[in-house]
Order: sequence, then structure tokens, then C-alpha cells
Amino acid sequence: MRLNSLPAWSALSIHYELIRHAHMRDWFAPENDTAPTRAERFTVSGSGLTLDFSKNRVTDKTIALLVQLARETSVQRRRDAMFSGEIVNPTEGRAALHTALRASDANAPYAVQVKAERKKMAAFAERVRNGQWIGYTGKPIQYVVNIGIGGSDLGPKMVTHALHHLATPKIRIHYVSNIDGVDLQRVLEQIDPEQTLVIIVSKTFTTLETMTNAHSLHDWFMRSGCTSDQLARHFVAVSANPQEVVRFGIAPNNMFEMWDWVGGRYSLWSGVGLSAMIAIGSKHFDRLLAGAHLMDEHFRRTPLAHNLPVLLGLLGIWYRNFFGLQSYVVVPYSEALHFLPAYLQQLEMESNGKSVTLDGNFVDYPTSAVTWGESGTNGQHAFFQMLHQGPTIVPVDFIVSLTPEHRLRGHHEKLLANCFAQGEALMVGRTQAQAECIVGLGQAELVPHIIFPGNRPTNTILLDELNPQSLGALIALYEHKTLVQAAVWNINPFDQWGVELGKMLGQVIEKDLIAAETVNPSKHDSSTSALIARSKLQFTRSKK
Ligand code: F6P
Repeated sequence: MRLNSLPAWSALSIHYELIRHAHMRDWFAPENDTAPTRAERFTVSGSGLTLDFSKNRVTDKTIALLVQLARETSVQRRRDAMFSGEIVNPTEGRAALHTALRASDANAPYAVQVKAERKKMAAFAERVRNGQWIGYTGKPIQYVVNIGIGGSDLGPKMVTHALHHLATPKIRIHYVSNIDGVDLQRVLEQIDPEQTLVIIVSKTFTTLETMTNAHSLHDWFMRSGCTSDQLARHFVAVSANPQEVVRFGIAPNNMFEMWDWVGGRYSLWSGVGLSAMIAIGSKHFDRLLAGAHLMDEHFRRTPLAHNLPVLLGLLGIWYRNFFGLQSYVVVPYSEALHFLPAYLQQLEMESNGKSVTLDGNFVDYPTSAVTWGESGTNGQHAFFQMLHQGPTIVPVDFIVSLTPEHRLRGHHEKLLANCFAQGEALMVGRTQAQAECIVGLGQAELVPHIIFPGNRPTNTILLDELNPQSLGALIALYEHKTLVQAAVWNINPFDQWGVELGKMLGQVIEKDLIAAETVNPSKHDSSTSALIARSKLQFTRSKK
């Protein structure tokens, strides 16, 4: 049955028309009978996280209908299929078992392999951390360079940054992803080959950016006096492609598994997390996994109406498919979570930016919202103007930890105050009457400029403390939210065919750029041909 023919969808469409002009301010007003319990009714907790979704354009009826939609679109069946290892990624013929990487049950799929690999990672990380793993001149490792891109970079980078307060001060971890040589060059300026360990992370071990950076690093080591035999002390790999790893010159015992049943953007929990494990130690890494597992259990066992990932996913559907909103913004009031929006961008948009259903039909409804973000309070001084007064509504996810990860006095209260104030301001707004009171009689022309429409939806996700466990739960929350939305939209969140075409054309254009002869203008469209010709001209000029 088509999504928009489902009873819950039709009921939501009617319900939307009834409440689209209602103002949240009125739902919170003291004279409203339901106001005193609104925050309580629309707050749920689980796995150490609290989600206050009361500042959303929803009533009890909305939530009931959205939950009904989840039932009618078989969200539970899709969830259970994923956990049990069914082929939930049919276009690639694979399961998506990232949850098995953090399962505690010995009967979980692949439990033996997962445990053995974790042990190998932990032993290796410990040797690097305690100085037993030495470089080619006998010195301990002081720098780790993670070479990877997308899911092979964003997860470990985000976690290492988030848990910096728990990291060993003895080792500096760098992340290089971009094929733009500036990325690697800047890192090379800060490290010493004698004390550097390179982790090449690539599921396929063929990704252009990663392999280009890996080869450049290889050459850098060779130029520094390291011999081919000694390179084994400086290069390890994380991959699902052992043949390519060996072809690169890395021995199988210096390789950590990634497995093809784990998708790149869901792979942080595998060997992909090695750099983070070296930073924070295997015990903390285990807690990260334990936190994610707690969220897995919450997702599996909690009724839909109280289930954090289900609610977060359904609220996104409400705004995307009924309000027609195109984007939502993630604003962690946490410098430690600075890289979370970038991580979520790949997670959500690479997963759900699809136009074809699981049965191969084109969708006739919008899918993934544009996910973007920046940490607070920085965002306040950049794009919040638009959130408050622009004509486009952008729902916000605020994420904040109640405990600081530093000892500086007076900062944290200000941080929290700003976060809560933004949510309040976005919801309540400022009416014309209030604006008139503020400016007085003399400056009436200012009034329209200082009116705030309010009624702008926000979620607030509270962490008691930012620690490995709460971070694991937070990441798993968004992973499962993504699955919930994919289930409603009936799409496959685990493939990414959309990245192929550009990659393929990139190879053709690279050859054209390098070729000595002029490229036949009919080979590409006139714009692309002109760009290639202009670049070749510049290459020639800069060689002179
Ligand atoms: O091109 C997209 C992508 O395939 C992502 O899905 C993935 O996380 C990234 O590239 C890196 O891939 P790999 O780990 O194979 O290098």
C-alpha cells in the first residue's frame, strides 16, 4: 500500500490542517488546562538520556497518530529484521549488524569474531598507549594519523574530540580525510615519522582520497629513512578487503576487521574506532559500546510511544512530510560535540537521501531532511537570526550535558542558560504588543523588526554528563532514528548508490586533466569542457 494511502497518513493530514496555526505559546499558557503537565507528558528518558520534545508543534493526538503511522509502516518489523541479521540492505545483499558490535550477549550474531577482534584491538591500543609499540628508531609512538574518509573518519574523529577530557596526553591523534593535499600537509608539519603510527581505515581499501593520502604518507616515511621492512611498525589497516591491504604492503596481522555486514557510516564500533580507542583506552571504549547497547535495548523493548529513537524519527517525519520543512539543525551546546553535526550529516543524508523505495518504485513524498549544524553558542552568532526571524522554519535539536568537562568557573551555567533561552525564545517569540511596549512611542518603525513569530520547534536532549556511555547512547539514538525514518519511507538506509556517478566521472576527468593533448570538447558538456581547459591552461602557466 502506498504511504500516503495509509489510514494514519490520511488522519495526520487532516490533523495537520487542524493544528497548523496553533501556537505552542498557547499550549504552555497558564490558563490552558493541559499546560502544567505538557513538559512532563512530552519528556521521555532512556539509556541515560532525556528528550524533552514538549516545544514541538504536537498534541497528544499528534503523537498517537504518528505512533500509529509507525505501526502501519512496520517500524518494529524493520527494527527486528536489522537486529536479527536479516538482509536489510537488499541492493548490496547484506545485513546491517552494527548493533552486534556492541551486543553483550554471547548468542548475538558474530559474537565470537567480534569479541576476538575487540581483544586484538585492545591489546594493540594498550601497546601503543604504554609505549611498547616502537617506531623504526626505537622511540615510542607519540602521534597517530587516522587516514580515512566518510564513515572511516567522521565517527572516530567525533568521539576522540568529544572525549578529549579522558584521552591520554601522551599521544596526539590527527585525522586526515581530504584529498586536498593541504589536509595532509598540515599534519605532516606537526608530526615526526620516527614516532608516528598511521591507521589506514577503509572498508573497500580502494577509496581514492584515502589511498592517495596513504601513498603520500608511505613516501614520506621512505624519504625520512624508514626502510620497507620497518614500515610495519608505522602502518596498520582497518578494512574489509584483506587482499588490497596486503597489496598495499600491510601484513594481515597488522589489519583489523571491518566486515561487510557493517555499513561505513555505522562502523565506529568496529576496528574503525581504533584511533579513538588509542586515545581514550579500551575500558572507556567498552563503555562507549555499552552505552550504545543500552540504547539498542531501549529501542528494541520500549513501547513506541516512549521510545526515544522512534519519537525523534517520527517528529522528523511530521515536519518533513506534513509541514514540508526541508532541513533541521543540530546544535550541541558542547564544544566537545563540535563534530557531531558533521557525523550526523553523513549518517542521515547518506542513509535516507533516497528517491526509490525498497520495491524499486519512485517515492511521491520527501525523504531525508537536510541535516546541518554547529555548536552553541557559536551558532547563535551566525545563523540563529534566521532561525528566529526568517520566513523558513527549521526545527532544532539542542544537545547539552549538565556537567562540564572542564574546571573553569562560571562558563557552564552561561552555556546552559543560553541553550535553554534559545529554546524558550524560539517557542514563545515576541508579540507585536510586547514589541510596542519595548520600543515605546518614539520608535514605532522599529516594531516589525523586533517581533519574533515564535512557534519554532525544538527538541532538547539532556545528558547528565558527557562520558563514553552517554555518548554511545546518543550516537545509537540517531542511528536508530535514521532506521525509523527509513522504515516509514520504505527505503533502504544502508546503501549509497548516489555517490557512484561522481566518483566514476572523476576518474575520467582526472585523466583528461593530466593528458598532454587537448580534450575533445564534445567529450563533456560545454561547461565541464571549459573548466577542464581552463585548468590545463593554468597548469601550463604554473609550470613555466
Ligand atoms: O563514498 C561514500 C563512502 O562509500 C561512504 O559510505 C564511506 O563511509 C566512505 O565512502 C569511505 O569508504 P571506505 O571506508 O570504503 O574508504
